[in-house]
Amino acid sequence: MRQNRVFALIASCLSELGLAASGLSYNGLNLSPQMGWDTYNAYALNYNETTIRDNANLLVSLGFRDLGYKVVIFDDAMTEQNRSSNGTLVENAAKFPNGLKNLVDSAIHGNGLLFGAYSSAGRWTCGGYSASLGHEQADAAWWASLGADYLKYDNCYNEGNSGTPQLSEHRYALMSNALNSTGRNIVYSLCNWGDDKPWEWASTISNSARISGDIYDQFDRPTTSCPCGPNEYYCEVPGYACSVLNILGKASVITSKNQPGYFNDLDMLEVGNGGMTYDEYKTHFSMWAAIKSPLIMGNKLTGLSPEDYGILTNPAVIALNQDPNGAAISRQLVEQVNDKDKWGFGEVQVWSGGLYGGDQVVAYINAANTTRTISCSLVDVFGGISTNENAQEAWQLYDLWGNETVIPTSSAAMVINGTVSIEAVDNGKWYYNASQTSWAEGLAQNSSLLLGTPVGTVSAGGSLTAQNVPPHGIQLWRLKSMSQMARKRDEL
Ligand code: GAL
Repeated sequence: MRQNRVFALIASCLSELGLAASGLSYNGLNLSPQMGWDTYNAYALNYNETTIRDNANLLVSLGFRDLGYKVVIFDDAMTEQNRSSNGTLVENAAKFPNGLKNLVDSAIHGNGLLFGAYSSAGRWTCGGYSASLGHEQADAAWWASLGADYLKYDNCYNEGNSGTPQLSEHRYALMSNALNSTGRNIVYSLCNWGDDKPWEWASTISNSARISGDIYDQFDRPTTSCPCGPNEYYCEVPGYACSVLNILGKASVITSKNQPGYFNDLDMLEVGNGGMTYDEYKTHFSMWAAIKSPLIMGNKLTGLSPEDYGILTNPAVIALNQDPNGAAISRQLVEQVNDKDKWGFGEVQVWSGGLYGGDQVVAYINAANTTRTISCSLVDVFGGISTNENAQEAWQLYDLWGNETVIPTSSAAMVINGTVSIEAVDNGKWYYNASQTSWAEGLAQNSSLLLGTPVGTVSAGGSLTAQNVPPHGIQLWRLKSMSQMARKRDEL
């Protein structure tokens, strides 16, 4: 925790001085969590050139790119199954009939997007295609020649080279060095499912690492394939089909391990894939953003609903994720309640954390069966210590899911069907272009799109109450200090 606060403080001081906190990143990259789109959750291995072109075009036309969703990850099955006779990877000709380089140049770089390659630190990828253990230099050079800006590096078929942090670190460092030797800026994203606790060692060789088995499109439904529960801090068998609440529990104890340049990866987003309710998707998106997980969309952008569009484009929530202070929100309280849902969960969670400029973020999650009012003293919201300066401060509250930040469904529907652009709909009210105005600049300018909807104040030493939080829903606030006095001191 101490380490995290020091990193956060340094990052925030540097950013206020207009300097990049790049020294905190092992390769100077990824100072805020990577954002983008990945083929796997929606298409599994069944994607091709058309899939990439269609989704890449929508990243641009629907305004996602300029919100920061830039990397397009070709997740598994990008090559032929076997290597060529001289040992190189071979692009998948059936999938990319006009050539991979042509596709990357035109649909990805030509659209101002970034190209994300994929492989495994093993003999085969998880889908059974040739992978890169023992071929690190040659494969890194091949991706670089195609214009790769990013590598997702999986853990399948690692031939026993895991089981201790040293074994895993050594295996993943081989690719880290190979990527660096290409001379290209390539963000390096480990996908080793939390195996051997990457949060303890991966920040010195990579930009992010997965912390759990694969997510699936359910809020809290348990599965036998994800055998460790949400309170099992370290899971020997990460598995797959882990729910949002399961991954959130695992993340809650290691949030202090983030720093600008390295982020715990809670896995890709499921928003838009149809398995959760609107409120569940809002909770999922809010928490991934506030914990500073990479925000990698995993849904078909073709066929997006107005509601899902409103979630994925909420700039006030994305601003939490891209905040120059790279620290994650932390869990302060979990209270069990007698209101269990059909999967046996019934609890309320309170999370909070610091943001740029001394602002705070507070989240109440209703992980129970029915709508509830949730109230908590500022003392408990800020860690349970009565002398905590944040608890002795008066705050202006901004609702991050209020009507200032979520595009109305009627406007979203027009943007999605191409009647009007996101730049123009409702006189541009919903358009935040982070390529032009950085998140820090937008916050410094008090952009209402980033601050959220003002909904009142809470007095020093008072309580924060959320009325009618729906089942599996969230109340998410940004708090702004009503005096300048206490600013920043808490971060010390
Ligand atoms: C899994 C990984 C997924 C996806 C898949 C591809 O191991 O966790 O995110 O990349 O492999 O086969």
